[in-house]
Amino acid sequence: MATAGEIGAIVLTALWLFLPAFLANMAPVFVGGPPPIDGGRVWRDGRRILGDGKTWRGLFLGPLVASAIVLGLSVVPPSEAGRAAGLVGWGSAAETFVFAYVIGFGALVGDAVKSFFKRRSGRDRGARWPGFDQLDFVAGGLLFAAAASALWGLAGGNGAWFSERFTLERIVALVILTPGLHLLVNIVGYKLGKKDVPW
Ligand code: CTP
Ligand code: MG
Repeated sequence: MATAGEIGAIVLTALWLFLPAFLANMAPVFVGGPPPIDGGRVWRDGRRILGDGKTWRGLFLGPLVASAIVLGLSVVPPSEAGRAAGLVGWGSAAETFVFAYVIGFGALVGDAVKSFFKRRSGRDRGARWPGFDQLDFVAGGLLFAAAASALWGLAGGNGAWFSERFTLERIVALVILTPGLHLLVNIVGYKLGKKDVPW
């Protein structure tokens, strides 16, 4: 059995490493805006392809906000407690910026893919789709990070970038904790008047 301290370290490190995805997923409510990615077009079922909630600005500027914040955070040296907890960073400044962007971008691609299927399931923009609304960006962020890491390896970089950081236990922690965190963030966004619905 893992001790409480060990579990705390896993959780803390997982949330820290995946911060680019959390930030990118939140940023579009501030930096997003028309035109929508689907250009207003409808699918053969008569419903929007993605809907007005998925915009080009959100997709490209969201990850930029995330990688800029993460780059800023990465220059702060870890505290003793953080070091003791095995808090690892995103690598060199270049790796930090690029991987944070890719993780954030993947997160929002996952979010948009979710919206495509959400529309096909007959749910309107902003409707609730428990599970999918919370884990879409986790799947997208992790997949893009893994793919970018493999490419980085082929280009002569550290191909183990992903596997060294996103261990199975950290991924499990993210999948378990994200739905709760997501709800919390959305309630805050709703209270700030940035979201129409508290989910
Ligand atoms: N947003 C954006 N571009 C994106 C993703 C999000 O502009 N690629 C903005 C939109 O204003 C969106 C808000 O962020 O309404 C919240 O995102 P999200 O909850 O993912 O979208 P919903 O409006 O709930 O739409 P959907 O039902 O398709 O998920
Ligand atoms: Mg939503």
